[in-house]
Order: sequence, then C-alpha cells, then structure tokens
Amino acid sequence: MKLRDFFYALATSTEVYARFRREPEAAMKDAGLSSDQCEAILAGREENLSQLLFHELPDHLASKDLDLTITLPPPPPQYDVVVSGPIAKSVSPPATAWGEPDSLWKRSGLTIVGTGIRGGLQTTAEARVCIVQATKVLYLLADPISETWVQELNPTAESMAPLYLKGKHRLVAYEAMVDRILSCLQESGDVCVVFYGHPGVFSNPARESIKRARVNGFEARMLPGISAEDNLIADLGIDPGQSGLQSYEATSFLVNKINFDPSAGLILWQVGVLGEVLWNPPHLAVRERLPLLSSYLTEYYGADHEVVLYHASPYPTSQPEIERIPLSDLAKAKLVFSSILYVPPNGRVKFDPDMADKLGLNWRSGR
Ligand SMILES: C[S@@+](CC[C@H](N)C(=O)[O-])C[C@H]1O[C@@H](n2cnc3c(N)ncnc32)[C@H](O)[C@@H]1O
Repeated sequence: MKLRDFFYALATSTEVYARFRREPEAAMKDAGLSSDQCEAILAGREENLSQLLFHELPDHLASKDLDLTITLPPPPPQYDVVVSGPIAKSVSPPATAWGEPDSLWKRSGLTIVGTGIRGGLQTTAEARVCIVQATKVLYLLADPISETWVQELNPTAESMAPLYLKGKHRLVAYEAMVDRILSCLQESGDVCVVFYGHPGVFSNPARESIKRARVNGFEARMLPGISAEDNLIADLGIDPGQSGLQSYEATSFLVNKINFDPSAGLILWQVGVLGEVLWNPPHLAVRERLPLLSSYLTEYYGADHEVVLYHASPYPTSQPEIERIPLSDLAKAKLVFSSILYVPPNGRVKFDPDMADKLGLNWRSGR
C-alpha cells in the first residue's frame, strides 16, 4: 500500500485513526505497509515520512521546486508580508468596514475556511461541510495529504499554489489569488476557499478577498481553524493565561522595532523567511540574517536565554520538531521553512502591590 493512502485514511477516517492509536502495528500490517514504511511511521520523524511520501507523489502534485536533499516538505506558501512598498498599496481594496460576519450557515457568497495543520483530523466539522457543499473550491495548502483530501471532498477543488511565481514579490501572488477568488465568485455565486491552519492568521488573500467580495455586493464569511500557534500551545505546554503571549511576524517585529514585553511569551512567525519579500524557495539567504534577530533579542533576554524553534507536523504519526537552544545558538539551529520561534518569558514581571491592594487581592498572606 502507498504510504499516502494510509495517511489519507488516517486523516479522513476517525475509525482508522482510532484503530491505529489502539494497535499501531496491527493497523499498519492490515493496511499492507512495507517494513520500511512501518519503521518510518513508528520512528515518528516527519522528515523520513516526507521523503517517502514525496517519492510516491503523482507528478501533478509534486512541486517543481522540490529539492529532495531538503528533508522536509517544500515550504508552505507564505502569504503575509508586512513590509510595505508600491505593490502593497495596489493590493488594498477601496476602504470598507470589515463589517459583521454574514450568516455563518449560509452557502451563498464567499466562505473562507481552514484545515488546521493536520488536514482532516484538525478540520472542524463545519469547515468540512462548507468544502463539500461549495459549487467551487479553491485552496492553498501546505502538505499533499490535505491537498488530496480536499480534492476528494470536492472535485471542483483547484490549487492556487501555481500563482506563486519564483523570484516575484509575494504580493503579486496574493493579488492573483484575490482576483481568481473574485472571478470564481462572479461565475458561480458561491465559493469556498481553503487555507491551512486558521484561515485568518497571516493570510492576506483571505482578508482581502472577503473585503472585496463585500464591496462587490457578495456575502462573505470566515470560519475559524486550528492554527500553528494553537498546536504550539498544546505541544510546548504553555498557557497564555500565565504570563501573556505576544504574536508577531518576525521581519515586521525587527523593522518596526515593536515595543514588546519580555516578561510575556513571544511568538515570532515566518522566521524561516526572515527578510524575504520575494517568493524564492528554499530562501537560503535567511540563515545569514538570523544573527540580526538573535543579537536584537539578546539585548532584551541575554545570550543564554533558551528559545524554541517549533514546527508542527502535518502527519498525525510524527512528533513536532522542537529545538530548544540558547539565543546565542539561534543562527546555527535547524531551521525549517515553516518554523515558529517561541521566546519564553524572562520571568521579570513588574508586580504592583498598590494595584493588588486596590483590587482587594489578599496577596500579603500568600493566598
Ligand atoms: C503564512 S503563515 C500561515 C499560518 C497559518 N494560517 C496558521 O494558522 O497557522 C506561515 C507561517 O506560519 C507558521 N507555520 C505554518 N505551518 C507551521 C507548522 N506546521 N508548524 C509551525 N509553524 C507553522 C510559520 O511561522 C510560517 O512561516
């Protein structure tokens, strides 16, 4: 059996997934997997699985840019840059209020959904229904299993990934995506657009297409999904309720000199494309820029402060990549294109006894 068929079954059938969790060896044996495939699954390393999976891919799904010496899947599309420029201006639609969400249950108009990071297993039931019922589906996904799943759910599904042109500004691709979404909407009256993760998190074309759809008289809505940040919270066991949590895009964090609070947790997205505005996988220049980030953070945390490079696996059998390193080693870390950098709080909270008293907190007795 092909590994991708087994993964497809894991992602889409809760029975297959439940059986695998109960008795993994028996489930894999019954599925007819080879011993290499079983070993790779049991080892739980996403990079080994990715190698096997990409060798099995049909041509139409295999990325032309794929370099098999890279052990992880090709980078998921990065579609939110905060750096502005002449093209950024042309992307903005006419000024319009975001407006209240349109009836969530309605099929007409534009519906934007997310698959979560593990398409199928992390996709909400309502998002799945929207994908199935849409007259036309467009998608931008980061792994081949989610892609196959969406295509199976709705045969009209069309990838927007070809709109990324190597060497071009990423905003050019976003603009082309918004155009494609709007023209499908004009044609069919109802479109579902599927992004990985949460569709509203770092997703320029999702926001822009909703605004433009409304300006053009269509209903439009977004349904929430499970983001990479949600996976990080679960996998690293952090709780925003304890010290707070700040979330920024890495490049914009640096260039805008964000006024952040080192006593709260800090999430930096898109650290794997630090300083990149062009679509140029595998974005090799990023590594040379990492010292800029580490020395900037060192000013606030010190060189020994432990940070975490995190990558959630799209496959339910693989462990997330979690690399804990001192800030001083950031430039040497194993960087995955779709990594998040998590900087834990420095523990120096400024306690205000007067405010605690005013709030009636009985802190002096330690209770
Ligand atoms: C354009 S954003 C898309 C985020 C997505 N909409 C979400 O809700 O997670 C891409 C960035 O998300 C983060 N990301 C995407 N996939 C990830 C994963 N599997 N694990 C960790 N971070 C991920 C990385 O920082 C990456 O550069």
